[in-house]
Amino acid sequence: VSALQVAIDGPASAGKSTVAKLVAKQFNYIYCDTGAMYRAITYAALQQHMDLTDDIAVAQLAKQTKIIFQPGDPVQRVLIGTQDITEAIRQPEVTNNVSTVAAIAAVREELVRQQREIASHGGIVMDGRDIGTTVLPAAEVKIFLVASAHERAVRRYKENVLKGIDTPLNQLQEEIELRDKKDSTRKVSPLTQASDAQKLDTTSLSIEQVVEKISDVITKKQ
Ligand code: C5P
Repeated sequence: VSALQVAIDGPASAGKSTVAKLVAKQFNYIYCDTGAMYRAITYAALQQHMDLTDDIAVAQLAKQTKIIFQPGDPVQRVLIGTQDITEAIRQPEVTNNVSTVAAIAAVREELVRQQREIASHGGIVMDGRDIGTTVLPAAEVKIFLVASAHERAVRRYKENVLKGIDTPLNQLQEEIELRDKKDSTRKVSPLTQASDAQKLDTTSLSIEQVVEKISDVITKKQ
């Protein structure tokens, strides 16, 4: 049995992190949420009232900011230094600005470097947009998770209700579609399915069913 690299990519709210966490737990692998890293830099930049289109300033911030993942069940905590930003990086203001920050080449360069380091020993499930294409092109398992925009908006809506966030469903769907458009059309590492990735449409699957399908793929490769 070998410790594999598992890359899970796909558009916003396709269920990547939920599924990735469960798969990691099942195989006793590390879980790395790369979206949280782009969100952490976005949050820090917003806090400093930075102009997010100032590539040089935001890239400098990305180099200086140490993002820490702290194990926790059910939620992995995200910290910058000693500041716990786990919930803060899920706020709509961060969500609606993160694609701008993620399009900056020098920001990606720094975060991709950190992601490769985290994954270097294998035994990892990493989720994001460019893991199979750019971050870990040699990953043994590559999954591309998709679901209809409507289904993804409904899932996000239900999550928001639990958190007390009150955004109308149609607005959520528009925001998701806009973020996907920005992520898919940017110049550097756009969201796209790796040629050797397996596409998995989760629209009518339960979380358990998706986890089982991915686990089967891993078990066969181990
Ligand atoms: O996965 P999540 O929705 O939290 O990611 C937030 C944003 O971070 C994405 O919309 C995308 O702009 C960016 N991202 C990225 N590359 C990754 C992971 C996330 O560009 N590997």
